[in-house]
Amino acid sequence: MALTGLFLISFLVVHAGLNACIFNDLPVFDENDNGDMFNRAAHFMGSSYVIRIMEIGLFAGIILHIVQGFALEVKNRSRRSVGYKVSLGNRGSKWYSRSMGLLGTLLLLFLIMHVAHFWIPSRFNGLEEVEGKNYHNLFQRMVEVFQNPVVVILYVLGCISLAYHLLHGFQSAFRTLGLQNKRYIALVTSLGTAFSIIVPFIFALMPIAFYFRWIG
Ligand code: HEM
Repeated sequence: MALTGLFLISFLVVHAGLNACIFNDLPVFDENDNGDMFNRAAHFMGSSYVIRIMEIGLFAGIILHIVQGFALEVKNRSRRSVGYKVSLGNRGSKWYSRSMGLLGTLLLLFLIMHVAHFWIPSRFNGLEEVEGKNYHNLFQRMVEVFQNPVVVILYVLGCISLAYHLLHGFQSAFRTLGLQNKRYIALVTSLGTAFSIIVPFIFALMPIAFYFRWIG
């Protein structure tokens, strides 16, 4: 579970970095960009065979992570048929550490909606001509999708679920691998907290920026 989790974390870094190209559209950078930088980067990712093969690995990683999480939950429950007499609540562990299954399920619902918004149209619809080049105009797709306030709220809620899921998952993965010892604990905890806040925050800014027309 730790290894598939870290693999998915590495995907998030690439995904957030590539998508952040949309911010090149901000007036402080190049307001005439019209999503060109992002479309080009996304086109490169979508048209490379190596990346397409890695995409199969990504979906397999997501499914494996879900199956592992489910199996772990079943195993944990089966080991203790009688509940604790006294619940330690937040003194024993944080609420989000005890709610990883729920947060993961919310993320799965988010992912189903998200893949239907972008990945399915981009893989099954034809290319469009954008300024003389043939692209999937994913930037324009984002402009359209993020005009709906309900969708924007669902995306922001998805990013909040991601933040809490990572807040536990990041350091838990390192602990499982034995890397959260006395020497590294402060480093892993601060790195994990920073990552869990910064990456979902960058993602959440994307639908918000389109909705308020800061870009697009
Ligand atoms: C909230 C801002 C986000 C935006 C604007 C966004 C945008 C996109 C776009 C445009 C694609 C299609 C790429 C293509 O078909 O070439 C995509 C694919 C995908 N996104 Fe996101 N994404 C966001 C957040 C997330 C988050 C938080 C996750 C995971 C928890 C995620 C997981 C995925 C997956 C699994 C795919 C399909 C695989 C792929 O195309 O590489 N996305 N996203």
